[in-house]
Amino acid sequence: MKPQAVRQSFVDFFVARGHVHLPSASLVPDALSTTLFTIAGMEQFVPVFLGQAPAPAPRVVTVQRCLRVAGGKNDIESVGRTGRHATFLEMLGNFSFGEYYKREAIAWAWEYLTRELGLDRDRLYATVYVDDDEAAALWGEEAGLDPGRISRFREDNFWDMGPTGPCGPCSEIFYDLGPAAGCGRPDCAVGCPHCNRFIEVWNLVFQQYDRDAGGELHPLPRHAIDTGMGFERLCMILAGKTSIFDTELYTSIIHALPKPEGTTSLPAEEAAVARRVIADHARAAVFLAADGVRPGNSERGYVMRFLMRRALRAGRRLALPEGFFSGLVDAVVASLEDGYPQLRDAAPEARRVLAAEEKLFARTLARGEARLAALLDAVRARGENVLPGRDVFELHDTYGFPPELTAEIAREQGLTADLAGYRAAMDEQRERARRDAAAKRSALRPAQGQLVDVPGSAFVGYEELEAQAAIVALFDEQGAPVEVLEQGQSGIVVLDRTPFYAERGGQAGDRGIIAKAGPEAASFEVRDTQYQDKRYRRILHKGVVTAGSLRVGETVEALVDPAWRREIRRHHTVTHLLQRALKDVLGDAVAQRGSAVFPDRTRFDFDAPTGALSRETARQVEGRVNELIRSDFHRQVESMPFAQAVARGAVYMKGEQYGDEVRVVTFGPSVELCGGTHVSSTGEIGHFVLLSESAIAAGVRRVEGLASAAADSYIGRLRDEAATAADLLSAPQDELSQAVRRIEQERRELARRLERLESELAQAEASRHVAQAQAENGVRYVAVQAAGPQQVRPLADALREALGEGVVVVAGADGERVTLSVNVAQSLAARGISAKDILAAMTPHVEGRGGGSATAAQGGGRKPAGTRAALDAAVEALRAAARG
Ligand code: SER
Repeated sequence: MKPQAVRQSFVDFFVARGHVHLPSASLVPDALSTTLFTIAGMEQFVPVFLGQAPAPAPRVVTVQRCLRVAGGKNDIESVGRTGRHATFLEMLGNFSFGEYYKREAIAWAWEYLTRELGLDRDRLYATVYVDDDEAAALWGEEAGLDPGRISRFREDNFWDMGPTGPCGPCSEIFYDLGPAAGCGRPDCAVGCPHCNRFIEVWNLVFQQYDRDAGGELHPLPRHAIDTGMGFERLCMILAGKTSIFDTELYTSIIHALPKPEGTTSLPAEEAAVARRVIADHARAAVFLAADGVRPGNSERGYVMRFLMRRALRAGRRLALPEGFFSGLVDAVVASLEDGYPQLRDAAPEARRVLAAEEKLFARTLARGEARLAALLDAVRARGENVLPGRDVFELHDTYGFPPELTAEIAREQGLTADLAGYRAAMDEQRERARRDAAAKRSALRPAQGQLVDVPGSAFVGYEELEAQAAIVALFDEQGAPVEVLEQGQSGIVVLDRTPFYAERGGQAGDRGIIAKAGPEAASFEVRDTQYQDKRYRRILHKGVVTAGSLRVGETVEALVDPAWRREIRRHHTVTHLLQRALKDVLGDAVAQRGSAVFPDRTRFDFDAPTGALSRETARQVEGRVNELIRSDFHRQVESMPFAQAVARGAVYMKGEQYGDEVRVVTFGPSVELCGGTHVSSTGEIGHFVLLSESAIAAGVRRVEGLASAAADSYIGRLRDEAATAADLLSAPQDELSQAVRRIEQERRELARRLERLESELAQAEASRHVAQAQAENGVRYVAVQAAGPQQVRPLADALREALGEGVVVVAGADGERVTLSVNVAQSLAARGISAKDILAAMTPHVEGRGGGSATAAQGGGRKPAGTRAALDAAVEALRAAARG
């Protein structure tokens, strides 16, 4: 059967049973979806299940394109390695919204598979949710399945689309691919963790609940049926294959791959995996492009880019020529267009998108790989096994390697990548970029000596935010004096008078607009305002002409951005109150060392004789500031001789230059020498949050704080966070820490129980092994494989106990690493049987290392495939030693 015939037969079967055929929805779900992509046929009906939208029809049938990349629903590293994992897939589904339920869903699924498609009934099995006796009985009644062919599972038979949303128990249909496809273990059965002999083809979900963020299940307004059959798997079964990649859906794409250029050292199986990865990711990329997604740096675009770059790397490992990936578009379209005719029109654009990304990445892929190889070598040379976050960051920043891809390549070599460190490096870079941009703005300055003839500027901004002024000088980006600044040009404007506050005393420079009205209207966006030099004479407005042009001598309106200034004022005044509060709480020895006032935060550095602030002291300081705010002290500004101000008790910063006449700013108990701008009364600040406290030098502390709108949004974020946490923990918000403590306690208790169980299990397992212990020349020994690296130790302990005098060898492996353990009884060690030597015989087989003494040795390795051989080598070594 051709793929399109399979799709059609499914649709026809259910249309004949009263279903309305609806088209596949986009891979991009609607805005309210909880998933990034459409992951199942039910996705477009979520509002229907929840009772938020009417059903399009009581019974519906669809063939839905889906993308499953991460999370519980897929494991991308399995794609191409097993015969059943894919990221892009099609799902055949029939749905009932409050109409038929379990009986019909089961009966029709059975009828479709066995009568319509003629699958061998003896190869079919079913699973049901642990306590779903009803479904189990229905499998008997409707399908004649005897109870021996029905298994019950808990997690695997409860389907959800994610942590929240519609969910319910489900019943799955499995197909037996035959013993040749299996692991051959005597207990191999449906759900076998070791092989794919029994493959799930169809999932019948009995949608009953809506799960909320707290994990609680609420009944849906009506029961619904949601079924999903893996189209690729069905095509595989019908074609008599055991891997989806052997169906024409994929072979047609794999065959379209161009010939390698040159040779590759990839082993044949790895090369086959790489080709399958490319085929799968090409299907995903083409359909994403057709659904309007473009590669980018966030969300869907990022996933698309990741898939594409992963495929491009696979191509490079195969030595495929550049352009191979976009060259696959036609093959992908040809393989899918019967089901999705719209793909034909989307093809040219898809080709362009794929080619552009390919070109972009090709430039750095080879160099990035070389660099990564060197970085990984360096990690090994240091005797470590984690690639540092800054390396992951460099690979992303310089070579465009998605961090997940880097992590995967590291894993291929038995190492891991520090992704948390990567994120920290990323944040650091963002902060640096922000600072650089600010520095660049400020670096713009008139060239040396060019200001001699320019008169000083009068600052009129204490009272006014708007002023009429004349342009006395203009400078271009290079700092050269010019007569005119044209639209698009960056430069500096000097006015005879200005309301713009130039950065001074820690207060950031103003932003706003310098504008000219009338027929020659023009506008200059002021991005920063600075003094020319320490003598505070000329004020430089730095920015860019956004419209028209400015000319020296013209009259303009200088308009400070009122919101910017307002928030700066509030943060500046609160900084004064903070200094007052610090002195009130910590004592008068607190002395200002510096400050920086911005519209969205303030920073205050001071000599702190008492060292770090405790949490309690910090709260006290914060409380004092808020008290000063609420007292609504009015601003008082006076000019007076320096000596008089000091006599008044005004605080000032040592080392700062003050003129003979100083400006004294008073808010109730706060009296400071200050040239900055302030609120008219402290109540305007609203409230204050003391954010952080840290040391910046010996004896110097730094506190940061937020006021006004910035404080509001911070508290808003905290409250959202607390509310979400409270929902997740099902606890009131003011008992969060209690709830976390309780969970932590439960977790510990569970861990203890798990440990106990594991040791009991190990003991049981140990007695089994010991019953079959062998002996060589009177030396009894067991050499066994544990379930995994974690289980090696408990099993070895239990075996030693159970065996008594003897030799115990245990190895355990997972997908990445192997753990080895050898123990030799004291008396045998005395006879020259050495645990260390036995271990040394094992390690070469697993590319491992290790050591120990004559009685106990441990080791680890990076080649799980060699575990068996390592055990055999151990047996050989210990027998030889026993023979003496
Ligand atoms: N929603 C279920 C699944 O995706 C059945 O369609 O498996």
